[in-house]
Amino acid sequence: EKGGYPHFMLKEIMEQPATIRDCIRGRIYDNGTKIFLNGVNHFKEKFLNVNRIVIVACGTSWHASLIGKRMFQELAHIPVTVEYASEFRYGTSLLTPNDIVIAVSQSGETADTLAAIKMAHESGAFVYGICNVIGSSISREADTGTYIHVGPEIGVASTKAFTGQVTVLAMLAVAVGNLRGTISDAEVSQIATAISNLPELIGKTLNLNEKIEDLSKIYTYVHNFLYLGRGYNYPTALEGALKLKEISYIHAEGYPAAEMKHGPIALIDEMMPTVVIAPQDDLHDKIISNIQQVKARGGKVIAVINENDREISQIADDILEIPSVPDCISPIISSIPLQLLAYHIAIRKGCNVDMPRNLAKSVTVE
Ligand code: M6R
Repeated sequence: EKGGYPHFMLKEIMEQPATIRDCIRGRIYDNGTKIFLNGVNHFKEKFLNVNRIVIVACGTSWHASLIGKRMFQELAHIPVTVEYASEFRYGTSLLTPNDIVIAVSQSGETADTLAAIKMAHESGAFVYGICNVIGSSISREADTGTYIHVGPEIGVASTKAFTGQVTVLAMLAVAVGNLRGTISDAEVSQIATAISNLPELIGKTLNLNEKIEDLSKIYTYVHNFLYLGRGYNYPTALEGALKLKEISYIHAEGYPAAEMKHGPIALIDEMMPTVVIAPQDDLHDKIISNIQQVKARGGKVIAVINENDREISQIADDILEIPSVPDCISPIISSIPLQLLAYHIAIRKGCNVDMPRNLAKSVTVE
C-alpha cells in the first residue's frame, strides 16, 4: 500500500509526477495549448461579472490559496482576498451576490472551511470548491468546482495535495483570464504548455532526493529555521516552514524575504539556517540582496535556485537546483525539495512522519 516506500509521506512526494498528470488530464487539450474546466464553462456569467474573489482555507490549503491570489490578480485582473476560514466565519464578511468564494480543502471536511462556505451562501455569493476527496462535504456544498484528482493522501503532512491545488488554481486563473480577455491565447498556450510539462520536470526535481538526504545530516540538530521567498514563492516559504515544524518539531518560520529586515533578522546567527526559495524570476536581484544580508550576519543559507544560477551558488552554503518554469507555477516545483528536506530531517530525528503528534489528517471540529 506504501508502494515500496517506508512511509506514506515519501510515497506521496515521489508520486507527484503521476498525480499532477492525473490532475491535468482532460483539462489541457489541443496539444497543450488550451485549458478547459467544467466549472468555469458552466458558469461563465459568474466569472464575467465577478466583483471580487474571496478564497477560504486552512493550513497548507491556505498557502496554496495565497499563490492562487497572485495568479487571479495577475492573469484574470480580479481582486482577491485570502482568508483563514476560522477567522472569516466569525468576522464581518461584506460578501455580495457578485462575489465568488473559492473553498480550497484537500479533505473537503475541514469544519471551519465548511462553515465559511455556508456563511458565503447566506450572503448569496457563488461558491467554487477545490477539493481532493470526491463527494466530500465541501464538494457537495459548493455550487460547482474542480477536483484536484491526486488520489488518497494518507500522510498527515499535505504534499501532493498542495501541488495539485496550485495546479488547479493555475488552470482556473488562466481559464478565467482567457474568458475575461485579460490574457491572450498565446499566453494561455504558453502557461498550458508549461503545466503539461510539469510531470516530467517534477520527476527531474525528485532526483534531488539523495542530495537532500545528505544535507539533512547537517541540519538535524538545529532548533530554529527561517524560510524566505518573494512573490509567488513567498507562500512556498510558509509551506516549507509548516512542513518542517509539523513533522520534525523543529521551530520554523516562513516570511516574505523583505520582511526579514522588520524583525526576524535579529534572530540570525550561525545556529539558525535560512532556506531561501530564489528561482530566476522578476524578483531575483532583490532576493540576492536578502541572501547577502543573511550571510553578512553569519547565517547559513540553503538556496533553492534554477540550474546554473552562478550568482547565488557562489554565496549560498548549499544549493538545491530546480528546473526553470514560468513564475506563476514555480511553487509546484520549488515546494518539492522543501517537502523532501522536512521528510529527511524528521526521519533522522526518529519522528513518526505519517502521524505527527497532536495532529489529525482532517480537522472536523473547531
Ligand atoms: O483538508 P484540508 O485541506 O481542508 O486541511 C487543511 C489543513 O488542516 C491541512 O492543510 C494541514 O495544514 C496539513 N495537514 C498540513 O500539512
